[in-house]
Amino acid sequence: MSQQENIIIFDTTLRDGEQSPGASMNIEEKLRIAHQLERLNVDVMEAGFPIASDGDFEAVKKIAQTIKGAQIAGLSRSNNMDIDRAWEALKYAGERGRIHTFIATSDIHMKYKLKMSQQEVLDAAVAAVTRAAGYTPNVEFSAEDAVRTQLPFLAQIITAVIEAGATTVNIPDTVGYTIPSEYFDIISYLKKNVSNIDKAIISVHCHNDLGLAVANSLAAVQAGARQLECTINGIGERAGNCSLEEAVMTLRTRQDILSYTTNIATEQITPSSKLLSTITGIQVQPNKAIVGANAFAHEAGIHQHGVLMDKTTYEIMTPESIGLRANKLVLGKHSGRHAFIDRLKELGYDLSKEEIQKAFVRFKTLADMKKEIFDEDLDAIVADEVLRVSETYKLLQMNVSSGSFAAPTATVEMDVKGEKKRTAVMGDGPVDAAFKAIKELTGTSYPLLNFSVGAITGGTDAQGECSVRLKNDSGREVLGQGAHPDIIVASAKAYINALNKIADIAKRLQETV
Ligand code: KIV
Ligand code: ZN
Repeated sequence: MSQQENIIIFDTTLRDGEQSPGASMNIEEKLRIAHQLERLNVDVMEAGFPIASDGDFEAVKKIAQTIKGAQIAGLSRSNNMDIDRAWEALKYAGERGRIHTFIATSDIHMKYKLKMSQQEVLDAAVAAVTRAAGYTPNVEFSAEDAVRTQLPFLAQIITAVIEAGATTVNIPDTVGYTIPSEYFDIISYLKKNVSNIDKAIISVHCHNDLGLAVANSLAAVQAGARQLECTINGIGERAGNCSLEEAVMTLRTRQDILSYTTNIATEQITPSSKLLSTITGIQVQPNKAIVGANAFAHEAGIHQHGVLMDKTTYEIMTPESIGLRANKLVLGKHSGRHAFIDRLKELGYDLSKEEIQKAFVRFKTLADMKKEIFDEDLDAIVADEVLRVSETYKLLQMNVSSGSFAAPTATVEMDVKGEKKRTAVMGDGPVDAAFKAIKELTGTSYPLLNFSVGAITGGTDAQGECSVRLKNDSGREVLGQGAHPDIIVASAKAYINALNKIADIAKRLQETV
């Protein structure tokens, strides 16, 4: 039997993933994801683009200082300022810090975006890698839009950057244009025509514009690529990036043909997917492979019968292998603190004592209102109680009257910067009335970009989960979330959560001035 080769998993959820519309995260949120990526056991996590903003710089620095179980990459364009700034943030990770420098190599990008000749791009790439290699031996070079690059030039630039010290060379399909056979041929061409290719790891980075990111990445692996760049839930620019869970589970499930291993702790896939959705508010489509709500649901009678007789009839991988447990009743009103803490740990949460206490109080209140508490309820409690920002505004109590007869009216009492305030306001509907009351009490009026409501579990006593997206004065989008058995209260909490995030951003800006 042939020896199985390991594929390096390079996760870019915190960099390319964060470039998804509406997926921006603050430092605490990024750190939480980074801890989860560490539990997932990714080999490399790209923590951000340090020169892009002070927030990005701080996030990369904090992750480099904190995370010990993975290499930490930071992106930089091919110029000295970017590279120096990247290393300033990454240096805390020592040899695990990776400078990832890139420049576009396709005719179309060089002509219209960079306005540079092939020679100028080649020189800039070599200079960038040389400078990065002066800081660390862990240097990755990406030829942006490699797939639309003239192959002889691609081979020339890859040869030159390896010579200059790049230890990983990435061949991105930046615009999601290639198909598996073509990508296989490009990687094969480089293996044949780059004389020093054995001195570097070939990496692939695929976007999903044609829905082929995973297929293309796997074709490249079959041609000799040994690093795969991907994101949780496949989030990323436009149609997203190669989905980590789909690529990894394909490698694992089809070991008969794809004789490769990864270091991924696959049972952490579901907790990773859920945490990312909770933090970004970007829900996974129900029919998404691996992590969609229906991915393991056998609806049709004939399928259910088959699975009951023998799971392998319709199940090509087990739900347990991706950390999916049955949607079971986990805790109830009489459950104690130990059972609660154990369950949170099983779900992948690593909380401080203070956070556990907050979540436990909230759990007890919920258990009084709702007979059955499911894993999803615990996820919502953690998201609502623990992942929240400092509370400039707090909901104390509220009451809403609505129906088909009288005008909906919300009476809301809040703590606004330490002062108790109350008002009653009419609106077009109960949510509108509640939001108007909150705006009046807080003296704010940010544009509402999006409002969504969902039920966390089935049943009429299910908790409602609401998301509110607001835009602050500098145009930054902020997502607020709230959960409560009363959907109007959940909406108000989500709105207030978004206001608190905006207040936090303003505070942080003041601190840095
Ligand atoms: O898609 C792309 O080309 C990128 C590079 C910066 C690697 O994200
Ligand atoms: Zn990309």
